[in-house]
Parts: sequence; C-alpha cells; structure tokens
Amino acid sequence: MADSFDVVVIGGGPGGYIAAIRAAQLGFTTACIDDGTRADGKPAPGGTCTNVGCIPSKALLQSSEHFEHAGHGFAQHGIAVKGLSIDVATMLARKDKVVLQNNEGILYLLKKNKVAFFHGRGSFAGKEGDAWTIAVEGAARATLAAKRVIVATGSVPRALPGAPFDGDRILDNAGALAIPEVPKRLGVVGAGVVGLEMGSVWRRLGAEVTVLEALPNFLGAADDAVAKEAQKAFAKQGLAIHTGAKIATVRSAKGTVTVDWTDAKGAAQKAAFDRLIVSIGRAPNTAGLRADAVGLALDDRGFVAVDDECRTNLPDVWAIGDVVRGPMLAHKAEEEGVAVAERIAGQKPHVDFGTVPWVIYTSPEIAWVGKNERELAAAGIAYKVGSFPFSANGRARAMGDTTGFVKILADAATDRVLGLHAIGPMASELVAEGVMAMEFGASSEDIARICHAHPTLSEATKEAALAVAKRTLNL
Ligand code: FAD
Ligand code: NAI
Repeated sequence: MADSFDVVVIGGGPGGYIAAIRAAQLGFTTACIDDGTRADGKPAPGGTCTNVGCIPSKALLQSSEHFEHAGHGFAQHGIAVKGLSIDVATMLARKDKVVLQNNEGILYLLKKNKVAFFHGRGSFAGKEGDAWTIAVEGAARATLAAKRVIVATGSVPRALPGAPFDGDRILDNAGALAIPEVPKRLGVVGAGVVGLEMGSVWRRLGAEVTVLEALPNFLGAADDAVAKEAQKAFAKQGLAIHTGAKIATVRSAKGTVTVDWTDAKGAAQKAAFDRLIVSIGRAPNTAGLRADAVGLALDDRGFVAVDDECRTNLPDVWAIGDVVRGPMLAHKAEEEGVAVAERIAGQKPHVDFGTVPWVIYTSPEIAWVGKNERELAAAGIAYKVGSFPFSANGRARAMGDTTGFVKILADAATDRVLGLHAIGPMASELVAEGVMAMEFGASSEDIARICHAHPTLSEATKEAALAVAKRTLNL
C-alpha cells in the first residue's frame, strides 16, 4: 500500500524543502524525499547549498577573512598579533558544525510544518489513476502516491574531460571545502563563482593560487567596470588569474597534479599543483529519477524541460531550482519552490529572473541586480549612470575597507532603476536595496530622496543615486 500525499517533493535542497514547507502551509499533505547523508549515516537535508555549497563556503570565507585581517589588517588599528597561525582541522570542524546546525534546522522546520520526511532516493515508478507513484529507496524504503510531484533534484559538478574528480588531488566543490592542510600550490580551473570564492579562501590562508579561465574576459557576467575593479583587487591580493587558458591535459601522480595548458597567446604552458579545484560549472542532476520511465522530458542540455511557470510536460509534475533552466542560485530555487506550491493552490505568483540578485562573496564582495551597461547598450536602451566610490564613504573609511563603488543605472527617459552593481564591503547586503527599488519600479530619484542612516555603507547607494542626476553631496 502506498502512503498517499497531496504533494511529494523529490529533493530536499533549498528549492525542495522550501517548496514542501510552503505546500504544507497551504494545507496540502506533503512529503519531501532527500538522499543527502551525513558521515554517520543520518540524513543531511539542505542539498548542495547546505552541505557542499553556500553555507560551508561562507563559513570558510569567514574564517579565512578573520585570518587575513589578523595578519594584514589589525596592525593599522594598533593591534599587534604575534605567532599567528591557522589550525585547518579546527576551521574545518567549525564549518562542519555550521552545516550540521543547518541540517538539523531543516529537519526541525519540516517537522514543525508537518512535512513527512523520507531519507532516501526517490524515483518515478508509474501512475495509478491520477496519482503518480514514487518509489523511495535507501535508509527509508517506501512507496508514495501523490497527485502532484515537484522535482527538485539539483545539480552536480562538471568534471574536465579525462580528469575525473578523485576527492584527493582533483577536487570538486565538496573536495575544495575539505582540503586537510593549506596547499602550497593550488590550481583552480574556471574563474567563476566557485573558483573565485574557494581560491580566495585558500589564498588567504597562504596558498599560492593560480586560476585558469577559458574565456578571454574575466567575470563576463558582471558589469565591465566591476569586473575590471575585481581583477585589479584580486591581482593585488596575489591571485594569479590567466584568462584565455585552454587546458590540454591534467595528470595526477605522486601527490602532484600537472596541468598542460595553452595561454591566451597560444604558448604552451605547464604547471604543477599540490591540489587542483575544477569549477567549470554544474550539470542538472536527473540520475536515478527514472525520468524516462514516465516520459518526463529533458531539454537538449539535460535539464528537466519546464515552461515559464515550472510546469513539465507531465500533468501535475513540476520542476524547480538547479535542475531546470535559469540561474543556479539557492534563492532562485527557493522562489520557484514557493511559486510552484502557490500555483498548485490556485494562486498566481510570479518569479522575475530580472530581479534575482547575484553575489560573489570574495573580498571585495561583488553583487548586482538587473542589467549592466553592456546589456543595456546591446538592447538599445538609453540609460544614465551614477557611481559613488567607497573611498568617499565615511563608514568604509572607518572600517578601513574602501575598495570599490556602487553604481546605479537608470532609464534615460523615465529615471526608473534598471540595475545596481556594487563591488566593495558588504555589497551582498547593499544589493537588496537595488532589488527592492526594481521590484517597486522606483526611480533613482526615489533612492536619492530616501533618508539613509549615517554613517553607513548604504549611503554609497544613496550617493550613487544622486550621481545619476549629477548632484552627489559627498564627492
Ligand atoms: P540542490 O541544493 O542540489 O538539492 C538537491 C537535493 O536533492 C540534494 O540533496 C540531492 O542529493 C537530492 N536528490 C537528487 N536526486 C534525488 C533523488 N532522486 N531522490 C532524493 N533526493 C535526491 N547559491 C547561492 O545562491 N548563494 C551562494 O552563496 C552559493 N554558494 C555556492 C557555493 C558552492 C561551492 C556551490 C557548489 C554552489 C553554491 N550555490 C550558491 C548554488 C546553490 O548551492 C544551488 O543553486 C542550490 O543548492 C540549488 O538548490 P536545489 O534545491 O535546486 O538543488
Ligand atoms: P560558473 O559558471 O560560475 O563558472 C565556471 C567558469 O569556468 C566560467 O568562467 C567558465 O568560462 C569556466 N570554464 C568552463 N569550462 C572551462 C574549461 N574547460 N577550462 C577553463 N575554464 C572553464 O560555475 P562554478 O563556479 O562551477 O559554479 C557553479 C554554479 O554554482 C554557479 O553558476 C553559480 O550559479 C553557483 N554558485 C553560486 C555562488 C554564489 O551565489 N555566491 C557561489 C558558488 C557557486
């Protein structure tokens, strides 16, 4: 006999567990299946984000930033640190504890919202009447029946051809978060979000980091001025970033990874590393779902094919998060999860990719929402620019962190905010004001007229808005 639910969610990452909670809040009997497992065999819900992504990477970024400040930032405050050292085992154990707190928190939230949790792998087993049958295998074995299914199975890291991840020398994101000692020479393939964040962690702790990026431009998705400022800052910190790099072969032997590559000028290069992080993007995870058993359509890149509202080709089967098109971000997965639960309940929610913020948690932090100058120019949209540097912001000076700027792009005719791009301290928090402005259809003048507390970094946003009208007060 199958256990019957109104909604079954396959995958308990930020997309899946949030969809399950929202469905339960809306009165549906809901189950969530997740196969994430801790070292001790207990469930580890939360997906990539909680276990080997957002949360542990931010824990290590925090630890390594403390180390960097203690070593290089404290002296200017008159604080002398002698005998500074890093105990990597303690740092990793703290990170594991933070992850565990989040695993436990998710299990608590599911219970609180009366979501039935199944620890195992869910797969489509067929359809009886109007109910889908889902088999659960693993720690929990069960057969579930539900009229609606939400697929939220996430993504997996892509490996370089001929260089599989070995968990020791050639590392994916999970390996990059668990290197047991500071490598002397760390190679990173791919100067994307993972490469820059993880490269920063280990560079701050003392590794000599070389980043090999295939594309000719650095941070191609960011605004050009932001990318340029970031490249300058990273070079100053000692991250050696080579763009236009073509990887030929990767060989791992006797504790050394050797990479043969061709540089942007076409010259052959060879590099030897103690560890190599490969962060060249991620692929949708549909393995084990038995999509073909029920005819669930995938697109030509292997993502579950969905319409703008996350409907698949099968009736009452939805898909969200990294396993479908769109940015691979936890908050995008969450928004889609909430929206699908509400659509099942007959509501009319809306998720706008145009206002999904991007954040790279390096130092300086990089964050943006909306269109950048290149995109506006390509779309033929006339725009005005207002920019304000942190070097002229009182709080940033007091903090001793004056790299970067906030830049606002506004429609030339209507003054409506079309994008906010920030690089510098707490850019991750500042971008929220840009998201809010865009969602409310605000003009740059609206931001300029709002009272911002003094002294705060957010005054740089206000000044950038004033700069759109060429009337900054503090520059
Ligand atoms: P996932 O989080 O991948 O969750 C899917 C879950 O489903 C997993 O637990 C998986 O094991 C499980 N599963 C798969 N198949 C089955 C099955 N058949 N049955 C049962 N369970 C199954 N995003 C941000 O927004 N901010 C960040 O700071 C950030 N940092 C990141 C850092 C790193 C190093 C990485 C790799 C990613 C980061 N991301 C970040 C991206 C973010 O982790 C993903 O976008 C997010 O986790 C996607 O959520 P999801 O629910 O779609 O999938
Ligand atoms: P990414 O897409 O951000 O970057 C991959 C980079 O690798 C690109 O610059 C690409 O040009 C390069 N590349 C691809 N193939 C290559 C090759 N053969 N040789 C050299 N370079 C190559 O992917 P990444 O960093 O793996 O992260 C995956 C996803 O996880 C991101 O797209 C992002 O959505 C998410 N993420 C988000 C974070 C955040 O929000 N702060 C942090 C980390 C990851």
